[in-house]
Amino acid sequence: GAPVEMDISGMQPGELRTVEWRGKPVWVVRRTPEMLESLKKIEGDLADPKSERNPKDLTPAYAQNSHRSIKPEYLVAVGICSHLGCSPITKFETGAQPSLPDNWTGGFLCPCHGSTFDLAGRVFKNKPAPDNLEVPPHMYLSDTKLLIG
Ligand code: FES
Repeated sequence: GAPVEMDISGMQPGELRTVEWRGKPVWVVRRTPEMLESLKKIEGDLADPKSERNPKDLTPAYAQNSHRSIKPEYLVAVGICSHLGCSPITKFETGAQPSLPDNWTGGFLCPCHGSTFDLAGRVFKNKPAPDNLEVPPHMYLSDTKLLIG
């Protein structure tokens, strides 16, 4: 499939947009400072906090960092669960909620078997999904133009 260009100008802090690439939903999230701060607090609850597993397919070198992205503010990730391929749903509101880990700081919940992912697409431990969400190959063409693929 061809690369997909996306205009991210006008995205608000905390906003998620979805774009289709190779038939897959790709999420772009503009993270708030609080969201970025939350990534540091939950590393101990994650299965692969440093994205060391299968980096060739899951995490390009430029996203192998604490925020899993090129620019800290923007997450770019494929919205498909690494367990059996369901689409996780957005759960950005923080705090205790049914079926979410304690001290939830926002992220994504897979409705199929309950796997949870943080705001960098990193999977929580002790749930069926083995891996973090895929960060697709991407680059910035300018401050406001993202090229995915
Ligand atoms: Fe997501 Fe099973 S497909 S937890």
